Formats: sequence, structure tokens, C-alpha cells
Amino acid sequence: MSEQKRLLTGDRPTGKMHVGHYVGSLQNRIRLQNKYECYIFIADLHMLTTKPQKEHIDALRENVREVVLGNLSAGIDPERTTLYLQSAIRPVYEMNLIFEMLVSLPRLSRLPSVKDMAQAAQIDDEAVPFGLIGYPVLQAADILMPRAHIVPVGQDNKAHVEITREIARRFNRYYGEVFPIPEAVIGDVPTLVGTDGDAKMSKSRENAIYLNDDAKTVEKKVRGMFTDPNRIRADIPGRVEGNPVFIYHDAFNPNREEVEDLKRRYREGKVGDVEVKQKLTVALNNFLDPIRERRQRYEEDKGYVEHLLYEGSRKMTIFAEETVSQMRKAMGLAGIWNRISRRARDREKRLARQNEA
Ligand code: TRP
Repeated sequence: MSEQKRLLTGDRPTGKMHVGHYVGSLQNRIRLQNKYECYIFIADLHMLTTKPQKEHIDALRENVREVVLGNLSAGIDPERTTLYLQSAIRPVYEMNLIFEMLVSLPRLSRLPSVKDMAQAAQIDDEAVPFGLIGYPVLQAADILMPRAHIVPVGQDNKAHVEITREIARRFNRYYGEVFPIPEAVIGDVPTLVGTDGDAKMSKSRENAIYLNDDAKTVEKKVRGMFTDPNRIRADIPGRVEGNPVFIYHDAFNPNREEVEDLKRRYREGKVGDVEVKQKLTVALNNFLDPIRERRQRYEEDKGYVEHLLYEGSRKMTIFAEETVSQMRKAMGLAGIWNRISRRARDREKRLARQNEA
């Protein structure tokens, strides 16, 4: 039997998923899910690196559910993919500690991503948690736990997979071959702009179109979208490049002919924003229809999301315990412990025999 390669990726539980998540990550993993044995998890421990307060943990109940529903509704097949909750897998805490010994502090401190995350969470240099510096180490534990081969991530996470590769190589060199060296698969789509043209779609900016927005909401959001700010009348030639409505047309309108025609007329000043937006609304709603339908089906089955997470987390725990046990064996920690328990048991037996005599 030839073993299928394993794919692993994770999402931080930030809440409802939007079309930016779809182009940025969901699409990529849906495309890959038939080729690999897949693991997708909710990275709630990673959330703690910038948001350890109780209120954020309390919000997990809803947010974890949302991220699972987002993945499922987008087309992740629960028959093919194991979904689990990171914090429920005890061995990940163990692996994290061992891996902390296999990477240098300066190597981690130099990563721009850690600085970016601190900045985004408004944490100043003096207050950066130890765990935030260790973010990529925990990520290495996630990836190496099921000894994954393939890791689909955004560009911003490429350096973290590189750290994982270094840790895996170092582990193998020090103690013997336990881990395959994982490969990052970077989606070729850049971050999707928000409806306001901002570089990133986000909840806080209210510039997101959610995967479960209804048709009316989508229409309203598209109507309010930013276009070419210099085009104050429909008969003025407009700019297509960098224009949010056309970026969305390119991403979600499968009718290439229609899109090219709209672009041409827009450049010539022969089409109004209204028509461009109406056609975008239709395209987006067509795209979202099957996603909304799937979501509704999953939601009607009460406890289904929890069932998947429960079974998936149990399965991953068993897998992870197996990996930790291989690690401990390779490192010689298991040997030390085995000798201790053997000698302790022998002594007990000896004392019992002496008592009998
Ligand atoms: N760092 C990822 C993010 O930015 C989440 C994540 C945590 C992850 N562990 C991972 C992704 C392991 C891929 C593999 O959201």
C-alpha cells in the first residue's frame, strides 16, 4: 500500500470567513484536498500569542464554529479532511517545548511577521510576549505533529514553514530521522482588497463580504464599493487596474467575455459604475449560492460541527502521541524513563519478596 502524503494547514479563529479568505486560502486547499490526506485545524493557541485575555477565549466558542463552517461551506469535504481544535491536542504543548531548543532566539526575533503581528495587535516592543516570539515554533509543532508533507499557507507564513523545515532537519540530524521535511504551498493569489479598496479585507474595517452574506447584503455592499475615484461621470475614461470592482470581477466572475467587455467599455468611458456593479453582484451571488446552501445544510444538523471537531481531535491526539513517542525514543528520553520505571518496579518486587520471606 503506498501511503498518501499528508497536508496540514490551520486557521486562527478570527470569526466569520469572507471572500478574501476564499481566494487567499480556502480555494487553494479545496483544490489540493483530493490529492492528500488532509488535516485542518483551528489555531486557538496561536490566537493566545497576541490575545491571551479571557474575553478572547470566551469568544472562541462562536469563532471556532464559524471557521469550521467557513471551511465546510466553501467545499472542504469532511470525509476527506480531519478537522480538529489545536488546544485539545495535549502533545502539541510537549512538542512545542522540545522544538524551542532547536531554533535560536535571534533567528525568531528577526522575522518581520512577528513584528507585524505585534503591531497589528498594538503590542509595543517592551510588552511582546515570549509566546509571540515563539509563534513559529508552535507552528512547527502543528506541522510536524502529523508529520505533514505539504503546508498550504499565505505568503506571510512562508518564513514560518522555513523555520519548521530547519527544526525538522535539526531534529533529524541530532536524534535520527523522524520527520519528513515539509513543503510550503503558497497560493498564487495576492491578498484580496476590501470593498473600500483597502489592501486587506477585515472585520474591523467593515470592508468584507462574508461567505454567508445573503444576496441583498451582497448587493448593498457592492453598490457601496469604491471604484476609480477620478471617474466622476460615466462618460469619462476610467482605470481598471487596481480598481476594486474589477479585481472582484477577475476573482469571481467566470464569464471572461463579459469581464473583458466591461473593462474595455470602462476604459473608453462607455459604461456606468451601476452596470459594472450589477454584473458583479450577479457574479458574486452565483459564486456564493452553493456556499450558502452547503452552510445551511451543515447548520441544520445540530451538533455536527462539534461532532467533527470531537472525532477529529481524538484522531489527531492518537497520531500526535505516536509522534511524541517516536521523538522521545529517538532522543533517548524514553530510554531514561524506561530504566527508571524498570528499576523502581524491580525494587518493589524485591521488597515484596523479602516481606513474604
Ligand atoms: N499562522 C497561520 C495564520 O496566519 C495559522 C497557523 C498556525 C498555521 N499553525 C499553522 C498554518 C500550521 C499552517 C500550518 O493564520
